Amino acid sequence: MAMHLFRFFRRARKGQGVSTRWEPGPCPLTSVKGGRRWREDIPYALPKDLQENDRLHYQHYVFKTLLGGNYHAPLERVGNILDVGCGPGYWMLEIAQQFPQARISGLDTEFALPPGPVASNCRFVQGNILHGLPFAEQSFDYTHQRLLVAALPSQAWPWEIKELLRVTRLGGWVELIEAGDGFAATGPQTERFLSWTRAALRMRGIDAGIIANIGRWLEEAGAREVVFRTLSYPLGSWAGHEGVLWGKDVFAGFLAIKGLLNAQLGVPLHELEAVLAQIPQEWDRYRTCNSIYVAYGKK
Ligand SMILES: C[S@@+](CC[C@H](N)C(=O)[O-])C[C@H]1O[C@@H](n2cnc3c(N)ncnc32)[C@H](O)[C@@H]1O
Repeated sequence: MAMHLFRFFRRARKGQGVSTRWEPGPCPLTSVKGGRRWREDIPYALPKDLQENDRLHYQHYVFKTLLGGNYHAPLERVGNILDVGCGPGYWMLEIAQQFPQARISGLDTEFALPPGPVASNCRFVQGNILHGLPFAEQSFDYTHQRLLVAALPSQAWPWEIKELLRVTRLGGWVELIEAGDGFAATGPQTERFLSWTRAALRMRGIDAGIIANIGRWLEEAGAREVVFRTLSYPLGSWAGHEGVLWGKDVFAGFLAIKGLLNAQLGVPLHELEAVLAQIPQEWDRYRTCNSIYVAYGKK
């Protein structure tokens, strides 16, 4: 057991950085578009800066509230947990409290620890998912991945889910939480914004419309006892507290991707802003909804 843990940490450290605090700065792999910082070395379509970390912080609590908790797989004995694409690490820090005996690893392109004391059972590992996960087979009891819809090109998904299973131990669980293009009852301005977003994502090889396949991909990768759920939630104040929460989150995502639509497609900022200004009222008028997908399975 001790040898296994030693191998696990040694492998994870090899060639990877370890940091305590992330400060976004200029680097050859980033650009600034519309005042926001973006990675240029990966297909990821959302900004990577402190403003985005704040959105992810809010989003973490929205997902926890709507889904009724931080995990759904029937976890029992968990020693090692991995969070793939962990972002600022809010999920990790809460899971570290829920499972104080566990060691939680978070992988992302850049470290982004929130301010304040960091749980001593958490660590960040720098890496690029598209290069494969830098962990030995069967390293984790539970592998979690949330909201990589704007990060992984369509063709990478089935392979990447096999990677999640590879690093999970026999009898351990893999869980995926996603949201994407599951809109229902949309009006014309929402459709306009979505068609720009789809075009910009397509240029990066990403298709958010296929994200509802996560359950099937888990099964095809060899997971057993797969559970897949599509949960449709209202967007906007027409549906009370839940609608306000989810509506603000999805709208903040629209604002975050705005700079890309301007830089990549050349849609003028004033046009984007005019469309965005009409979207919240439109959601109330059409009673628009958007889906969240939950999938988990046992290795
Ligand atoms: C939308 S955020 C979700 C963060 C976190 N999972 C959550 O739910 O709060 C997506 C994260 O994936 C990371 N990411 C995108 N492409 C990546 C890649 N190729 N390798 C590693 N991380 C990546 C981004 O840096 C970002 O932190």
